[in-house]
Amino acid sequence: NGPAVPAEPKAAGKDARPAPRRDLISIDDLSLAEIRGLFHHADRFAKDLRQWSGVLPGRIAASLFYEPSTRTRLSFESAMLRLGGGVITAADMKTSSAQKGESLADTVRVVSGAYSDIMVLRHPSEGAARLATHFSEVPVINAGDGSHEHPTQTLCDLYTLWVERGRLDGLEVALAGDLRHSRTIHSFIYALARFGANIVCVPHHGLELPDYVVKRLRESYGAEPVRADASRLGALAEASDAVYITPQKPHQLSLFTDSAALPVKHVDAVYMTRMQTERHLEAKDESAYMRLGPQALQADSLRDAVVMHPLPRRDEISADMDSDPRGVYFKQASRGVPVRMAILAWLLGELELAGEPAPPP
Ligand code: CP
Repeated sequence: NGPAVPAEPKAAGKDARPAPRRDLISIDDLSLAEIRGLFHHADRFAKDLRQWSGVLPGRIAASLFYEPSTRTRLSFESAMLRLGGGVITAADMKTSSAQKGESLADTVRVVSGAYSDIMVLRHPSEGAARLATHFSEVPVINAGDGSHEHPTQTLCDLYTLWVERGRLDGLEVALAGDLRHSRTIHSFIYALARFGANIVCVPHHGLELPDYVVKRLRESYGAEPVRADASRLGALAEASDAVYITPQKPHQLSLFTDSAALPVKHVDAVYMTRMQTERHLEAKDESAYMRLGPQALQADSLRDAVVMHPLPRRDEISADMDSDPRGVYFKQASRGVPVRMAILAWLLGELELAGEPAPPP
């Protein structure tokens, strides 16, 4: 077995009481200091993923996935195994007793406790992960609940920005694609707003941010949406013409920023998302969906932007982007392992993060 985490041991006096259980359901469950703390530990884990098998020996993570996944489930399971723990997994709930009509609450009651020490849950219903916390005896991690949130993807995304850009504060980030149904966008935009980013939304027509997300950005983060005149976007507008393949343009270009900051002259990252057809109530014409490749990034404002994507992609990012150094989406997916190692070790009480926790939801 490799070492535990002796370099920065927890402060534990003989009178220390166990800390209250933490769950990770929304990105807002974490303070900004805690997010930075997780990245500090992710950096340590990433230096050599193979030397941490002494951190969580004997602990078990349960994966409950009511929806398909490749990256989230496998990177969590890899993270747990690399930390020396074990994994039990229900990767296809069609082969579980959910198929016989068992409620989520009953499944969570059974799988937490004796079966596992931490639970990773993906579910098609918004709010399912929060509901699970009421029935679970162990920490619950939201691995995606419907169109709502996907906080651990956001931690991988923010970590990638931190590594690639060297900072998290005050970035300029363009979010493109299906902003309505993409849960990764929703968690990401809340975190970006808290880090003071200027966010350019470049939605596919009809797939703009949901009203409840805009309301929360406005009320909780003081962000003010500005319906930007394309001409005020300068070089970025040229780029969005190139990014879009669409019958109507320009689409809604909303800037959550101080209008005095317009036009955006330099974009740090373009975050592309696929059309989330599994959540669409009516079929949309996918042939009209935006496509992004190196030719769409020639505008000055985008010349050194990194291109991110939570994956899986279809063809909204062209294959010739894969060999372009600005395309960082496969690195983003790899970083899921050290980031999730830090999340698991922290929620299981083996790491301390600096800073105050976020206020309760
Ligand atoms: N990004 C992401 O959530 O990928 P999976 O659906 O493969 O887990």
